[in-house]
Amino acid sequence: MKAATAASQRTTTGAPPMTRETGIGPVGAAHGPVMVGEVVEWLRPRPGARLVDATVGLGGHAAALVAGAPGARLLGVDRDPRALARARERLLPAADRVVLRHGDFARLRAILPEVGWGEGADAVLLDLGVSSLQLDDPMRGFSFRAAGPLDMRMDPGEGRDAAEIVNTTEELARAVAGVLGHGKPRRGPGPAGYRTNATRTFQAIRIAVNEELDRLERFLVDGWAALRPGGRLAVLAYHSLEDRRVKDAFRRWGASCLCPPGMVACACGWKAKVRILTRRPLRPAPSEIARNPRARSARLRVVERLRGA
Ligand SMILES: C[S@@+](CC[C@H](N)C(=O)[O-])C[C@H]1O[C@@H](n2cnc3c(N)ncnc32)[C@H](O)[C@@H]1O
Repeated sequence: MKAATAASQRTTTGAPPMTRETGIGPVGAAHGPVMVGEVVEWLRPRPGARLVDATVGLGGHAAALVAGAPGARLLGVDRDPRALARARERLLPAADRVVLRHGDFARLRAILPEVGWGEGADAVLLDLGVSSLQLDDPMRGFSFRAAGPLDMRMDPGEGRDAAEIVNTTEELARAVAGVLGHGKPRRGPGPAGYRTNATRTFQAIRIAVNEELDRLERFLVDGWAALRPGGRLAVLAYHSLEDRRVKDAFRRWGASCLCPPGMVACACGWKAKVRILTRRPLRPAPSEIARNPRARSARLRVVERLRGA
């Protein structure tokens, strides 16, 4: 708890320097990876370790993890083929230690044996949500700030796009209510209210189009099993619906018994799989939020797989 509080107040220390020479740092974008120092510090990449960035995006976290551990290997996964192309470019200086796979983190346990890591990884990162590559491209339709087609698919080869998903009033209402609830919009009239409500509505549609909560839940059934004993999983969430699911799953994984309350003796046979390292989620330092407003809602939670689990 103390470590968590201390870390949440720290600025991004411990991260390797972001320079052109190391090939690390923002690629043509003002926004770097969120809480990168904290992610590296808590995942503690070691020489020779097997690292997984299951949402590799533009490769920012991945580059920092690889730079933090000479000889460590990294598997980068993303649903978005364009993100993988950017990550490949970004990770070029460490190309001999990096494997990239197009895929869904909900299937991570099936992807690991495909790269010879069936026994699991020493560190896994999930940085949920969208990347600036996706948000800033008007042709992908993730943002209302520029005109474009209503697509919003992270993987353009998969499923229905937003225009198809919200093409009836019922579907639109369902998508929005699923994320915003049934209460009033948060902000009233005026430009700020318009931006807040539009942002939240677009976010709700994007979450529905990409089945984001469903994919996260699938991962959280037994995501701990993607780790080797002593390995760590870090999840960065940006929405309370995501963070609550992560918190509940970590509590379940860390519990010593899953019997309903009131049982005289344990009948479930469950044993704790992980130790929760962050009782409260870590938050970005104010200086990071000032630099990158997209970091403001980030919450980082970390668990460690128990030896013998
Ligand atoms: C916030 S960005 C990650 C940014 C990355 N950490 C970086 O440093 O550049 C989230 C990424 O996760 C990907 N993503 C979202 N859901 C996914 C899923 N279920 N499986 C794999 N990738 C996913 C998105 O396509 C996006 O590229």
